[in-house]
Amino acid sequence: MIPKLIVFGGNGFLGKRICQEAVTAGYQVVSVSRSGKAPQSNELNDKQWMREVQWAAADIFKPDSYHELLKDASNVVHSLGILLENENYKQTLSKTPTNDSKSYLLSFGAGPNPLKKSSPYFTYEMMNKQSAIILADTFKQEILKKSKKEQTKANERSFTYISADKGFPMIPSGYINSKREAEIELEKMQKYFRPVIMRPGFMFDERRNAIGPRSFIHTALELLYCGNKFLLQNKLQFMNDLIRPTVSTQQVSKSVLTKIKNPDFKGVVTLEEILKT
Ligand SMILES: NC(=O)c1ccc[n+]([C@@H]2O[C@H](COP(=O)([O-])OP(=O)(O)OC[C@H]3O[C@@H](n4cnc5c(N)ncnc54)[C@H](OP(=O)(O)O)[C@@H]3O)[C@@H](O)[C@H]2O)c1
Repeated sequence: MIPKLIVFGGNGFLGKRICQEAVTAGYQVVSVSRSGKAPQSNELNDKQWMREVQWAAADIFKPDSYHELLKDASNVVHSLGILLENENYKQTLSKTPTNDSKSYLLSFGAGPNPLKKSSPYFTYEMMNKQSAIILADTFKQEILKKSKKEQTKANERSFTYISADKGFPMIPSGYINSKREAEIELEKMQKYFRPVIMRPGFMFDERRNAIGPRSFIHTALELLYCGNKFLLQNKLQFMNDLIRPTVSTQQVSKSVLTKIKNPDFKGVVTLEEILKT
């Protein structure tokens, strides 16, 4: 039987590359998101693998909307979360360039629009931590419905959580704390599945060359990283901790699939380890 892999947030920036890698690896792939839509792409290669994915609509906070999908799944990936508790920042990051590029860079991290009612879910606690715990618990409940023999096969199932390497300067500590708290809760569920905890740093897509805030940040971080490596020769530990390498969504996805396929692996995958993939 072809193993089934479900990616929550599978139409997102990273999630879509995990779906692509999983299709290539021969999995039956389901993406879950509220819209249930495939991501937009004009690339022929993307169109091909996207046809192989089932694009399902459900809300991670409403287990009734997706528990049926988990019934015969052996691998679950959680690939959604927030960097700021400000609903505007994601739009700012994905904006296409305009003449007014300064204004959208400045609006990154700006306070919420007072006219817009913000979602009660758009907090670190809910999006980064509780969403993962709710999903893992729903997966666990489906496992508990199986025979006793099946329940014991924890190493044949995995739950991948996209955590993060470290906090970022100017990003509230609640971001990284919520990630670490979720990791601890997931590691307690090893009896049911292998927790795979990915810790990427700032990500970029190898196939997107658009000039926008994300590529601006990527270039700036790469320059800082090279400066630290070649000018300071990584001699100052506090600089090494602050300036971390960037990683592509393709590389993270390859690392995710490598760990999912290894029945003996569970635990944390550091940024350094991802970069070696
Ligand atoms: N981007 C980076 O540089 C970076 C760095 C380190 C770690 N990370 C982590 O990597 C993970 C993925 O990040 P990303 O940038 O790929 O995120 P993203 O582009 O925002 O994708 C997340 C997807 O989740 C879906 N979603 C949101 N709320 C949902 C809900 N309630 N139920 C079901 N689906 C929902 C959204 O689709 P719908 O709107 O259709 O629901 C969205 O496409 C996150 O955990 C993030 O913290 C990212």
